[in-house]
Amino acid sequence: MSTIDWGAARRRIILDPTVTMLNTGSFGPLPEPVFDRATELRRRLAAGPTDFFVRQAPPLLWEARERTAAFLGTVPHRLVFTTNVSAAINLVASGLRLNAPGEILMSDHEYGAMIWCWERVAQRQGLTIRTFPLPTMTTDPAEIVASAVKAMTSRTRLLFFSHVLSPTGLVLPAKELCAEARRRGIVSVVDGAHAPVYVPLNVSDVNADFDAANLHQWLLAPSGAGFLVIGPGNEDRLQPLHVSWGYFADKYPIGEVVQSAGPDARDAYGSTPRTRFLEFEGTRDICPWLAVPAAIDFQTAFGFDKVRARIAELAVYTRKVIGGLGLPLATSPTLGGAMTAFELPARTSAPTLRKELWARRVEIPVIERPTRLLIRVSHHFYTLEAEIDRLAEVLREVL
Ligand SMILES: Cc1ncc(COP(=O)(O)O)c(C=O)c1O
Repeated sequence: MSTIDWGAARRRIILDPTVTMLNTGSFGPLPEPVFDRATELRRRLAAGPTDFFVRQAPPLLWEARERTAAFLGTVPHRLVFTTNVSAAINLVASGLRLNAPGEILMSDHEYGAMIWCWERVAQRQGLTIRTFPLPTMTTDPAEIVASAVKAMTSRTRLLFFSHVLSPTGLVLPAKELCAEARRRGIVSVVDGAHAPVYVPLNVSDVNADFDAANLHQWLLAPSGAGFLVIGPGNEDRLQPLHVSWGYFADKYPIGEVVQSAGPDARDAYGSTPRTRFLEFEGTRDICPWLAVPAAIDFQTAFGFDKVRARIAELAVYTRKVIGGLGLPLATSPTLGGAMTAFELPARTSAPTLRKELWARRVEIPVIERPTRLLIRVSHHFYTLEAEIDRLAEVLREVL
């Protein structure tokens, strides 16, 4: 049992007290110190934009890159900051050239927008999409690997999967899946949207060719903070989505030649030539990236193991209270984390239920899957047992 006062921790998160907040899995709220840091940076940007962008931001960006890379288990020159995981996956999808004809392989539980992203790649590059079925209630990660491996063929060019499934919170064995792909010469792309904090993530250990995630969900960094980590051997495979001043590392601006210590050495902008090539999109507000160290510090103060232990306690509580209503569990009890999903009765109308829940100020997603309707409870360390109880009370009333 943890000894942290989680009620006191909750009071440091900026949340509307009239809302039962069970949707960190879509958008995380901000702790006070993270909000304060982002606001302080934005004030500095507002007061002196030239000084901020030209002189203040580069060391802050380098610090953010070093701190975030260390937190993720990688090195600064592999870390490309992005606005969110969608931007990171699109950067990979639009830059990679795959051999056609062939297949893009993904699980049958991928995030809708990312499926569209790969469908466009397939269409443009003359490839097809193939899915492998996920045994979503398994307690054995080897079963998930076996299902993916069974679908891999000599035509498979790329494997795409979520490290943590969006609809149910199931954690996939990312390291093993990437290893199986590598063994067959298949490029691995991990949609780790939820992975930071949700799992004890070490991207070097996962060893994907490309590993992307959000920092605005479980790390509680500001919206606008995501990343792509480029795995060894993939350094020169991508092209930027925006061509800007990072495009030619040795020229800035107006033809002035800049001395570079190499593509992976720290440059004058808080980047490396390779990361800046992909990351720099022209003038924009990068304060969400610069505030990431404050978000890392906030949960480091509790200890990430303690945070995950609290999440596990809440998962048990959620299974007991919401499962107690008779709703079948849709998340494997041993391969879950901070999200627990339940199946709703077949007769339920999703739009009506969403309205009924919000009418009672309960923020929670109702997710439509091909064969069933799910309700997904997010329970981060600041979730209160009283909020799970409130959900149960509301479900009892409206279902
Ligand atoms: C698995 C997965 N991929 C991608 C996304 C898209 O996230 P964003 O809109 O922040 O890019 C989400 C959002 O929750 C997700 O769960």
